[in-house]
Amino acid sequence: MNSVLILGAAGFIGSNIAELFYNSGYNVIAVDGCLDKTGGDKTHLNEIINKITFIDKRIENIVELPEIIGSVDIIIDCMAWTSHHSAISNPIYDLELNAKSHLHLLLQIPDNCKAKIFYLASRGQYGNPNTDVIDEETPMIPEDIQGINKLAAESYYRVYSKLKNIDVVSLRIPNCYGKNQPTSGSDIGLIGSFIKDALDGKAIKVFGDGRKRNIIYVDDLISDILILSKKEIKGFNPFNVRGIDVTIRELAEEIVSIIGKGSVIKEEMPDIIKAIDTGNTEYSDVKLNQYIGGRSITDFTTSLEKTINYFKEKFYAMEM
Ligand SMILES: NC(=O)c1ccc[n+]([C@@H]2O[C@H](COP(=O)([O-])OP(=O)(O)OC[C@H]3O[C@@H](n4cnc5c(N)ncnc54)[C@H](O)[C@@H]3O)[C@@H](O)[C@H]2O)c1
Repeated sequence: MNSVLILGAAGFIGSNIAELFYNSGYNVIAVDGCLDKTGGDKTHLNEIINKITFIDKRIENIVELPEIIGSVDIIIDCMAWTSHHSAISNPIYDLELNAKSHLHLLLQIPDNCKAKIFYLASRGQYGNPNTDVIDEETPMIPEDIQGINKLAAESYYRVYSKLKNIDVVSLRIPNCYGKNQPTSGSDIGLIGSFIKDALDGKAIKVFGDGRKRNIIYVDDLISDILILSKKEIKGFNPFNVRGIDVTIRELAEEIVSIIGKGSVIKEEMPDIIKAIDTGNTEYSDVKLNQYIGGRSITDFTTSLEKTINYFKEKFYAMEM
């Protein structure tokens, strides 16, 4: 049986990956320190926790990490802190979780390691480039602290793939949504806060006009990862992972329409949002499509309905 090591496995995306790989017949070794301010929550793994190996520690505290790395076929690094706004006031914590932890992992990986390694990178690394289309060759000039540290981590992977002769896939992911995403707290992301406002019957504030986002449903992302894990990979391979293009207003209106509560109002864009905005440039996934031979993307309304149902279940459970 093939083995996969998932780091950050109790978080939003990591827990979905753990479930998919377990259900696809893999032996899953899941690591997560459930760190402060992150989306880490052991209950995300409830359905599989007794059927996998779960190590409830920060990777920095796992002495047997080199042996574990030596025993697996695939390593998926989902460790992070994803609060873009909070990272501006706490850049040192961002540096620790979004750069240092990944360097620590890389230093434990032996030369010529046989495992295929996946790093979950970010669309934010490109910042707001002055081009019509963002492809993998577009220069990366991050506009915020998190983009800087995500790019640093990806750069460590790129350089160590040559120094250690290891095979690495870096997936540059846009805003992701779906089951196990954070539903409470002060910084739950664009889609989470829109859903929460609408469920509370509040007005969703949309800043500015015509601002677009590319957003990806978590089921589509993890299915790409499973397909890629079976492909031949050599050296360092970055891929843009594209989801659905929407304007922020369309997104808010669709959420209000599905929930049947709340409203959408336009507001002046705050300076802090203006300063880190990543713009409307089209995000290209031509390279990934060519590599895996056609990707499947869940219909926008269906994916939002499923995500909203997840929020409702969480809120219902909190009220019980
Ligand atoms: N969620 C998104 O919209 C999005 C968008 C683009 C990229 N990404 C990337 O995808 C990856 C996963 O994001 P997510 O939304 O699942 O985040 P998350 O906060 O839900 O999960 C991250 C997990 O990593 C764990 N972790 C962090 N540092 C660790 C360490 N040193 N040792 C052990 N565990 C550690 C945390 O405890 C947490 O459970 C990240 O690399 C993130 O940057 C996410």
